Amino acid sequence: MALELIHIHKEYASKTGEGPTIALEDIHYRVEAGQFVTFIGPSGCGKTTLLRIVAGLEKVSSGRVILRGEEITGQAGRVGLVFQEYALFPWRTTLENIDMGLEIRGVPKAERRSAALEYIRQFGLSGFEAHYPRQLSGGMQQRVAIARTLVLNPRVVLMDEPFASLDSQTRNALQEFLAGIGQQRNETILFVTHNVDEAVFLSDRIVVLSNRPARIVRDFEVNLPKPRDRTSAECNELRREILKVLGEQKISLAPMASGSLAPIGGEGRGEGAEGS
Ligand SMILES: Nc1ncnc2c1ncn2[C@@H]1O[C@H](COP(=O)(O)OP(=O)(O)O)[C@@H](O)[C@H]1O
Ligand SMILES: [Mg+2]
Repeated sequence: MALELIHIHKEYASKTGEGPTIALEDIHYRVEAGQFVTFIGPSGCGKTTLLRIVAGLEKVSSGRVILRGEEITGQAGRVGLVFQEYALFPWRTTLENIDMGLEIRGVPKAERRSAALEYIRQFGLSGFEAHYPRQLSGGMQQRVAIARTLVLNPRVVLMDEPFASLDSQTRNALQEFLAGIGQQRNETILFVTHNVDEAVFLSDRIVVLSNRPARIVRDFEVNLPKPRDRTSAECNELRREILKVLGEQKISLAPMASGSLAPIGGEGRGEGAEGS
């Protein structure tokens, strides 16, 4: 087993004198090695908090995180992060962004360059080695971000709404790209989204989280073959089941489903999603 989340509770102390914010309530879950597990829940429910705890960037209030038998207490070196806000370094080229983690680890230059170039080739970035992030499309930037993470061979990859700011066509393409990687490399991936379609397309398991504080309300095992056909009867049926659970629990996911209606600039995703 790759990762155990053991009865995790998290509350943030109040800064203003109001009560504390309870973000996570008894999150108890096991992720098997090689699984693609998606946590789906509304904006503000506690998804990022959960990933930050697994990454060792945030402390639990109670509970434990065990990664391959070792408890995570501080910043965990063997965890890969692809967070929306983990932007690429603008002053580094594609190649320099991808090989930076290896550089920090002290890998000799020739070795890390050849590793980075291999990722550049596999990730369809050939010809863009010397480009800076601003010279790349959003989809290419996220591929660089994923390459930068995977080149370090993390034990588990954490992805926090990595495609949320992309237009729907690019988003679909990157989902397909990620699904392909997941199959080839058998990565253990913890993925967070508030997009049901994305969850159904990618996941081996889909964990539905409640409104804040996040509790696990359902754990779907998805046994559909990959690559998946989004329009298949099975995918539709699963989407329907997930939406039913969300409806029963009065969970409303942020209005991101229709790309053409997404707000320009990407802000305002959380509006009206918390219901409190
Ligand atoms: N550092 C922090 N201090 C205080 N409250 C926080 C902090 N980080 C997140 N929160 C609160 O915890 C709740 C869950 O946040 P978050 O995990 O970011 O949700 P999500 O990623 O699901 O949108 C929100 O109410 C948020 O305001
Ligand atoms: Mg978040």
